[in-house]
Amino acid sequence: MSGPGAEPVVAPTPLVPLPARLAVLLSGRGSNFESLADACARGEVPARVVAVVSDRRDAPGLSRAEERGLATHVLVPKELGGREAQEARLARLLEEARVDVVCLAGYMRILGPGFVARFPLRILNIHPSLLPSFPGKEAQAQAVTHGVRVSGVTVHVVDAGMDSGPILAQEAVTVADGDDAASLSARILPVEHRLYPQALRRFLEGGWRLSGRRLVFPPES
Ligand code: GRF
Repeated sequence: MSGPGAEPVVAPTPLVPLPARLAVLLSGRGSNFESLADACARGEVPARVVAVVSDRRDAPGLSRAEERGLATHVLVPKELGGREAQEARLARLLEEARVDVVCLAGYMRILGPGFVARFPLRILNIHPSLLPSFPGKEAQAQAVTHGVRVSGVTVHVVDAGMDSGPILAQEAVTVADGDDAASLSARILPVEHRLYPQALRRFLEGGWRLSGRRLVFPPES
């Protein structure tokens, strides 16, 4: 990533040969995986999902992927001798599947710096708050507890920190007085499902520039 004062990184146009080969990593329900896979299938995102990977055997998202006839993989760190070994397996799997871009979709682990360095500016994540507010777990509950009037959704590039990489897209969602974590999550989720495919499309189209932490897109044609 380009640091302050460093030359900006300029992405090629398109970022990778299209349709891009996409991997989705998940740990649970998989509704964001579904929104990405459906947008790809409808031709709204120039990509196809070539691998779906879960770190949990019981993730409902896995059966949603199987129903779509997609290749699924389970890599549980505990079963593989810990995080580093699991990430080494994951990196090998992604390289063998010639994955261009990785989308985290409710993947409940922080990826280690070694793994992230193998896919520089090629891993995206969606987070249910307006980062840098409320990173980490239970972002919606954090927002309600803090009493903010506005929270939202962020799609960002993954770096070695927690929910800390350059921001691709954000959209605000109002927090109502009567909200609890569940009601706020229910209003945030449809925004996630709309924003992630849109942000991924612009990311894949390339031509953007990363200047410090600022990702600058070319004007939309
Ligand atoms: C979403 O709220 C996402 O923003 C967060 O984890 C949740 C995953 O939901 N990172 P799903 O598995 O995509 O339905």
